[in-house]
Amino acid sequence: MALATLPFFARAELPEGPGKLLVEQVCSTCHGTQYLERAQGYDSPEAWRAVMASMINLPEAQAITISEYLATHYPSRPNKKPNLIPGDFDIEIQEWQVPTLGQRSRDPVEAPDGSIWWTGMWASLAGRLDPETGKMEEFQLPKSARPHSIVPDATGFIWYLGNGNGTIGRLDPGSGTVDVFPTTSRDPHTGVFHPNGKLYFTAQHSGMLGRLDPESGALTEVESRARPYGIKVGDNGKVYIAFNGTNAIGELDPETMAIRYFEIPDTRTRIRRLDIATDGSIWFVNSSLGKIGRLNPNTGVVEQWNSPSGPNAHPYALAVIDDVVWYNESGMRPDTLVRFDPASERFQSWAIPSGIGIIRHVWVTKDKNLLIHQSSSNRVGIVRIPR
Ligand code: HEC
Repeated sequence: MALATLPFFARAELPEGPGKLLVEQVCSTCHGTQYLERAQGYDSPEAWRAVMASMINLPEAQAITISEYLATHYPSRPNKKPNLIPGDFDIEIQEWQVPTLGQRSRDPVEAPDGSIWWTGMWASLAGRLDPETGKMEEFQLPKSARPHSIVPDATGFIWYLGNGNGTIGRLDPGSGTVDVFPTTSRDPHTGVFHPNGKLYFTAQHSGMLGRLDPESGALTEVESRARPYGIKVGDNGKVYIAFNGTNAIGELDPETMAIRYFEIPDTRTRIRRLDIATDGSIWFVNSSLGKIGRLNPNTGVVEQWNSPSGPNAHPYALAVIDDVVWYNESGMRPDTLVRFDPASERFQSWAIPSGIGIIRHVWVTKDKNLLIHQSSSNRVGIVRIPR
């Protein structure tokens, strides 16, 4: 499957040295070389080769020249090293590399039949993985859709949030056919099915929340505060929204679509993802301030804890499993998986094996394991959590 060519951005001036010309030729076909400035950097040619291998297959001689050039001029940045917290909790992390290079796999979910699905946003595809055999299959979605995330419904259809073309789509894994539902927002982002059968979703840059009824196709959209992002349904039936453009968490009434806002202290707070504990409290990542927090939606009281890697840890994805909080520190390299036990207030953390990327969304399986991914290393994975 070919990856569509991405818009060409302004080219950064590269340092002189053997390999410069090759990098300019080979690495700017999909994106500008300013990506090299922004990336974490790596000390060894081998590490650079691993990153490159997720995007492009190169002849051996070119791969050697380019990776040596990059390791010399773009070494790792020490301020990105995580503070890993040891502990006695044991987990097992298994990762799979997905087939199409450069797709930036993300947002894995578990379908009712136990298969794992992911989306390759940059290649507009959805993929299915059999975790028992490792067998994978990719399904092409409309090229302009660029799904930000996917979510299965109770019958096994895979719904995608078409961030690139303002649509929501439903993939039938049996036939590979896709039904498309246009929205009025520009950029559907993350979706969640409510027990009432409807799909609720955020549209980050449009600043909108939506509800789609798959039965009738009826669509309701309302405006919200800036940059609604993560979305989850509580046991109370309310829909909770993380805001990445303001210091708030929203509570959406699933019937009236009225939004109530909880202010989170410090106006610099930005929240990517949240999840809900069994007592109804809302756990969230304070991505911009390097903290995790808990909101009591009955009292509005907020408590926060500093993430082990500090203010630049950039906690991103989050899930609560049996009232224990799991999240990642996406500002660190390697990306880390952190476990926080609210009962003891203790942290423990692990490096993601292929942790050159970022976990942007996690999913809890029926067996209460955690599905993860790394967009830069083109991996999806599972964290097996002993009970
Ligand atoms: C087939 C298309 C393609 C080619 C060719 C390509 N890349 Fe990429 N690369 C991508 C995509 C897609 C992204 C993600 C863009 C984004 O997330 O904004 C990316 C992102 C990156 C990043 C940022 C990674 C991160 O998450 O920090 C780096 C660094 C990078 N590329 C380096 C390279 C180098 C070096 C080469 C040449 C050897 C290369 N790329 C060639 C598609 C490609």
